[in-house]
Amino acid sequence: MNYILRTYRLAKRFRFRLRVRDISLSVPEGSIYGFLGPNGAGKSTTIKMILGLIRPTNGHVEILGERLKRKNLAHIGAIVESPRFYDYMSGMDNIRVLSWLSGRVDEKALQDAIDVVGLRKRIHDKVKIYSQGMRQRLAIACSLVPAPKLLILDEPTNGLDPEGVRDMRDLILELNKKWGLTIFLSSHVLSEVEKIADHVAIISDGILLFEGTVNQLQKEHSTNVVKLMTSDNSRARDLLASRMFQVIPPPATRDDERFIFIDFTPQPGRGDVHEFAMEISSVLAGAGLTIGELSTEKPDLESIFLRYTGT
Ligand SMILES: Nc1ncnc2c1ncn2[C@@H]1O[C@H](COP(=O)(O)OP(=O)(O)OP(=O)(O)O)[C@@H](O)[C@H]1O
Ligand SMILES: [Mg+2]
Repeated sequence: MNYILRTYRLAKRFRFRLRVRDISLSVPEGSIYGFLGPNGAGKSTTIKMILGLIRPTNGHVEILGERLKRKNLAHIGAIVESPRFYDYMSGMDNIRVLSWLSGRVDEKALQDAIDVVGLRKRIHDKVKIYSQGMRQRLAIACSLVPAPKLLILDEPTNGLDPEGVRDMRDLILELNKKWGLTIFLSSHVLSEVEKIADHVAIISDGILLFEGTVNQLQKEHSTNVVKLMTSDNSRARDLLASRMFQVIPPPATRDDERFIFIDFTPQPGRGDVHEFAMEISSVLAGAGLTIGELSTEKPDLESIFLRYTGT
């Protein structure tokens, strides 16, 4: 597999606190890679380190197999947090000035960029009167002018209405499929990323919890899980484990410590998950344990994300 971008144990400390730790990401060339995490998880901080805007406390970044330098940054187009423009100038003047500042202005690339983001009709309007979605698209157009191989978008759908979100999704897909760009996008909404991404990483509190394909994420969670609380969880855990029930660790977050999770993988000749739950309760009852709560879950992707991140 060819990786366009890799990070190796990236870490960032702000005021004595590690806000990002040990983030190792591998972004395959040609992929749409979703970088997911709740607010404050460390997405923007990681992206800024990838772009060389802030210096990592630890770890390093490689672009196309080479250590991050000014030279290979030319392969990356990026929008971090809300893009800023000269409001009193037109979209066209902004894109010209900003491209000129970044060094290379290829007129055809500039015109193509305006077309692909769908701003042709409004490009001579002042940015002052642009909607949020138009600003976002202008920012993408600007980042496309130097013909990058990788586009990094920090929460590209932030502040957009459902239609704007859909347009952005279509644009991202077009840039990936037709222009062959690798897209790395951050988001705090899994359901949105799920629709377009083929690879995902999930972070929370600065820690990487999952990295893989969307298929892997789904497969890893295609089993049912029985969740229960008993009068004595530690005894119940031991007992169930000794009876060959597969007690799994609580999913990454604090609250779930109060519960026991048991994996249920459907097999031929085995009853369904409800019979399985009854088996569990009879084992526990036989040992004099009381069950306070018992439920079966089949996590969809959104709840997988919630389980990972606890938000
Ligand atoms: N310059 C800074 N100085 C101190 N703390 C910072 C600085 N930048 C970020 N942080 C802290 O680092 C943590 C991660 O912030 P970051 O902006 O990377 O999160 P995020 O995942 O992008 O969140 P959001 O979804 O809200 O954009 C937060 O707790 C934030 O307060
Ligand atoms: Mg952010």
